[in-house]
Amino acid sequence: MPAVPVPIFDESSYLKAMRDRRGSAKIYAMYSSVIGGIVTDTNLMSVPIDDHLVHRGHAVFDTCSLFNGNLYRVDIHLDRFLKSAATARIAHKWTKDDLRSIIQQTAAASGKKTANLRYWMGAGVGGFALHPAECQSASLYVVVWGSHPAHSAGEETLDLRQGEGIREFTVSVPMKPKLLATMKSNNYLLNALMSMESTEKGGRYGILTYDGKLAEAAVCCVGVLTKDKEFLTPPFDCILAGTTVRRCMDICRDMCASGELKDVRQQEVPLDTVYQAEELLMLSGDWHVESIVELDGRPIGTGQPGPLAKRVRDTIMREANEGTHDCHPVPYHLYSRQ
Ligand SMILES: Cc1ncc(COP(=O)(O)O)c(C=O)c1O
Repeated sequence: MPAVPVPIFDESSYLKAMRDRRGSAKIYAMYSSVIGGIVTDTNLMSVPIDDHLVHRGHAVFDTCSLFNGNLYRVDIHLDRFLKSAATARIAHKWTKDDLRSIIQQTAAASGKKTANLRYWMGAGVGGFALHPAECQSASLYVVVWGSHPAHSAGEETLDLRQGEGIREFTVSVPMKPKLLATMKSNNYLLNALMSMESTEKGGRYGILTYDGKLAEAAVCCVGVLTKDKEFLTPPFDCILAGTTVRRCMDICRDMCASGELKDVRQQEVPLDTVYQAEELLMLSGDWHVESIVELDGRPIGTGQPGPLAKRVRDTIMREANEGTHDCHPVPYHLYSRQ
């Protein structure tokens, strides 16, 4: 039987095919340094296949959150992004101010007041070699997109199923080498495998361990509240330095000052301490503060979401929504449509 010929598209049939495709994410705006501008039509959002970001994974990324027209804690993410780019030896021209400005303008062009942002820096476009010498310049992409897939009930609402408590499982996936684990690179295959293994058991992200100790979840840091009212979380020497857990530690330090908690420490956390925790918090993406109520089939604490997770989540949601903590306004006036 003759093979069905694969069509060769021209520009207009390509755009029609892109319009007809299904299953794409809700992306409201994309900046690309390759074109030097922003597009808001999803069909025009693309990354060249000869960007080393695509075929070598030679790229780093980070995130931030848009709440009520303000970027929440964008600078702590940009510090980590620039550190990741330096570790990945991506030569680029962007300062922190340049990056923040491009991110703010992309958010403004989206017209959205509440959304997620993700941005990537790649070694650049140039060909299919391994060494980036062929790339003329680093590439930068920024997207403004709809709510977290795990909470996808509505595109304008960020806080949906949080607070219900989740079941989690330790996974067999190996730790990344320190170099990759401590930078936010595009190499997330092991993270994806963790999430798949956990999901098959009834969890969501999966908890990574080493030598009988807690490391992190697939895309989250993990915090342990002990029965002695101490907040413990692993040091950042072989996991990603989470921005959300750092805000959580600040909130917990305030609770120490008011006598509600005894101590906050980054230290190695044996799995026994984790199973015997009063509360287990999973923290990521600025505002995701989930209670793990069951780990490997064993109830944690009362087996219900606890007050610390609620306190941390409420504090973060309040300051992010009210724009009272480390917020940068988005310049919507630049793109206001009459
Ligand atoms: C591997 C890993 N650990 C931890 C985190 C949590 O970091 P953050 O709180 O900055 O989102 C993430 C975030 O995506 C991650 O990918």
